[in-house]
Amino acid sequence: TTGGSDDQKRRAAERAADLVSAGETVGLGTGSTAAFAVRALGRKLESGELDGVRGVATSFASRQLARDSEIPLLDLDEVETIDIAIDGADRVDSDGNLIKGGGAAHAREKVVDAAADRFVVVADPSKVAETLDRAVPLEVLPAARTLVSGRVADLGGDPVLRTAERKDGPVVTDNGNLVLDCDFGAVEDPESLADDLSATPGVVEHGLFVGLADEAYVGTEDGVDVRTY
Ligand code: A5P
Repeated sequence: TTGGSDDQKRRAAERAADLVSAGETVGLGTGSTAAFAVRALGRKLESGELDGVRGVATSFASRQLARDSEIPLLDLDEVETIDIAIDGADRVDSDGNLIKGGGAAHAREKVVDAAADRFVVVADPSKVAETLDRAVPLEVLPAARTLVSGRVADLGGDPVLRTAERKDGPVVTDNGNLVLDCDFGAVEDPESLADDLSATPGVVEHGLFVGLADEAYVGTEDGVDVRTY
């Protein structure tokens, strides 16, 4: 959730939902923007405009929303191919690289989004920036958090353990891990930082999505700005 308006998010997400064809397996993203796409798919199935579509959830929250929207689901561990994934982002740079994980769902999101033949990002203009100028979320094994924090500091980052608003203590992910929000300033070389973070033991997944997005649909005041990467 950010500064973008619900109308901008809805426009982008509903246009992306129009890309889905009958019979396809669809990765269902997490967050307030992707939620508009999930609801739109549910309506298309209910009206009969689409059929044979099956969803793959990226989080507890997206699975729940898909159930409420009566979208038939496949378990991630049984899926061999995904035709299209529609997912939000916290930042989108000019090359289509992303920061995700504002909802702590980026590990499963990355599995789904990377596997999809076509990965469409849905966003509002507040997410779009020249560079990735936002803290990078890391999902970390709980027992590794101190060592991972030290490695992040060596890489020039400032790690902060994410805490929950309505709970004493840390955010625990759907996978039972912790989240470190790591401020590296503006990320000038996302590919090299992604490699360094991926090579750090104890990091289950980081929120840099480099070279994964095929398109971004950005909702504007009166339409949708489509970017292809
Ligand atoms: C979830 O962990 C994130 O990657 C979301 O996809 C991201 O935070 C986008 O959410 P909003 O659409 O609510 O901004």
